[in-house]
Amino acid sequence: MILRVFPRRTSMTPTDEYVRIGEPDLFLPDDITEVHISTCFTWDFYESDRLFRAWEKIAPVKVGGPAHGREAGDFNPGLYVKKGCVITSRGCPNHCWFCAVWKNEGNIRELTIEDGYNVLDSNLLACSDDHIKRVFTMLSKQTERVKFTGGFEAKRFQEWHIDQLLRLTRRPLIFFAYDTPDDYEPLRIARAILKNAGITRHYLCCYCLVGYRGDTFESAEKRLNQIIGLDMVPYVMIYRDREGYLNPEWIKIPKRVVQSGNHFPEGPSVSLKAPFPYFGGKSRVAAVVWRLLGQPKHYIEPFFGSGAVLLVRPHYKPTMIETVNDADGHIANVWRAIQFASEETARWCDWPVNHADLSARRKELIKNSHRLIEKLAADPEFYDAKLAGYWIWAASCWIGSGLTFDTIPNVGRSPQGVHSRIPRQGRRAFGIQAQMPHVSGFPWGIQTQRPHLLSAGGINGKRPKLTGNKGCGVHRSACRNGAIYEWFDELAARLRNVRVVCGDWARVCGGNWQDYVGTCGIFFDPPYGDAARRKNIYAKDSLDVAGKVREWALGRAQKETYRIVIAGYYEEHECLLSEGWGVHRWSTNGGYSNLGHNQGRKNKDREALFYSPHCLPLENEQRELF
Ligand SMILES: C[S@@+](CC[C@H](N)C(=O)[O-])C[C@H]1O[C@@H](n2cnc3c(N)ncnc32)[C@H](O)[C@@H]1O
Ligand code: SF4
Repeated sequence: MILRVFPRRTSMTPTDEYVRIGEPDLFLPDDITEVHISTCFTWDFYESDRLFRAWEKIAPVKVGGPAHGREAGDFNPGLYVKKGCVITSRGCPNHCWFCAVWKNEGNIRELTIEDGYNVLDSNLLACSDDHIKRVFTMLSKQTERVKFTGGFEAKRFQEWHIDQLLRLTRRPLIFFAYDTPDDYEPLRIARAILKNAGITRHYLCCYCLVGYRGDTFESAEKRLNQIIGLDMVPYVMIYRDREGYLNPEWIKIPKRVVQSGNHFPEGPSVSLKAPFPYFGGKSRVAAVVWRLLGQPKHYIEPFFGSGAVLLVRPHYKPTMIETVNDADGHIANVWRAIQFASEETARWCDWPVNHADLSARRKELIKNSHRLIEKLAADPEFYDAKLAGYWIWAASCWIGSGLTFDTIPNVGRSPQGVHSRIPRQGRRAFGIQAQMPHVSGFPWGIQTQRPHLLSAGGINGKRPKLTGNKGCGVHRSACRNGAIYEWFDELAARLRNVRVVCGDWARVCGGNWQDYVGTCGIFFDPPYGDAARRKNIYAKDSLDVAGKVREWALGRAQKETYRIVIAGYYEEHECLLSEGWGVHRWSTNGGYSNLGHNQGRKNKDREALFYSPHCLPLENEQRELF
């Protein structure tokens, strides 16, 4: 067997058992007949030489890879790049002075087209029309979302390419490049063609090479701002010379762009929705929160839940700094998994609604709750896509609290709140199934106690063919539901730069770093501290936390750089009014509070947003004074 060795790991490096990074280790497979050292970057030549000497003791060694140029022959799927990546052409007819592709690989050369969905060609659009069409035919058969990571040259992008892009089953992720100032006009035209075809910004990214000979911070900043102005996500690439030297000054460029954010053209307002229903979601009042916060340089949401406020942030730009947190591991995991692995998470949600699976998945969620919190708290990049998918799926057919509680409330007592509408089940109501998934408002017989199909919330609301409460079509939905994948892709694009923290709210409010880039906007939506409300609404619930938040916020609110909004019941935080805070009163439109006991109905008119003295004024609204 051939063992492939790489001087460094990149996101494209394969991960099978016949791959090693660096020197030989003690656990090599014993059937190695040859070693191939693959060098991607010219600055790794020295390291490749060193590895050659280390590996020749194990087996005969060959050295190759993109940095070695013309030796690169046909493409072998999964051999030197990860499974799913594909290269259908090598070389480039252009001669950009900073680029190694034409120097190493020469003019464009079309290869046999293998299967894959992540196209790494350096300049696919420089190939013949026939080759490009054949590549798209191959891509149109892929189930994974297609990515053109190698990038499209904007100058070569034409109207007929749109027809090819629209053949793909899902909207692809497309990269362009804006390296030198003369790239702008073709990029603008390509963007206009894509916009006319309805391909939105979430699928458009643009590499921007910075820091090359003659480049200045001002010029690089302008290019990055122009990319953002075209509604594309910028990817900064810092120039390295052939020896791999990179001027560290250029590492600051993304931060400079963020700090100069005021002169960005305003991005469009995109509103997204969480893929699950959630108690206490604040979508109804989110626009008011943003009017009060304006466009803070750093936005923090310590009680994130379903993220109803962040997801409707107006004029969002990918360079904005945003930090969110939730103490419930399942919530934090859901958002991280969507952020890092939207496709895989969607796959676990794309599942027919049925009661047996709901019980099994719920068991799995409860079993893993504690482990999840520990791992999420310890590693900012940890996520578990399967558990996230299970949770979203289950939460979307489960209305009421207790989805992931270790102890089931109400066991052996008559059901309360929304569950009071569910017929009693006698002994069946014990254990894991005691908390029934939401059925309709009418007390059905025992056979029909199934997850809610008629107007399911969250992802199940998007499920095709689940229109009747007789369960017809449930088994059909083994077919993939494209809407969920698209939805998750959009959420992933929105969350790409959001820091998702798991822990107590104090984790993101400790220290004094929150306003380090300028204005800091914080939206607090803690579990309400009112003894009369329903208990155990959230997996992490408490009546004390709202008071602690108020104390903390009072301290910070005096600083001009802080704009703070706290959601709660009016009476809870009324004392803030004597400290120069304002209030906006509002009512929930019913929702969960209407479904439940009488107190729920009374509470719906007690809702208020309290805002700190340095928030922006609400037009036509007088601050209430104590
Ligand atoms: C009222 S909900 C937030 C709803 C959110 N604003 C929305 O629109 O969906 C409160 C959230 O705080 C979380 N939570 C409870 N105690 C917490 C704590 N001590 N620290 C951080 N989060 C907490 C709960 O898990 C829940 O998701
Ligand atoms: S167009 Fe791209 S691949 Fe071709 S030479 Fe220029 S930078 Fe390199």
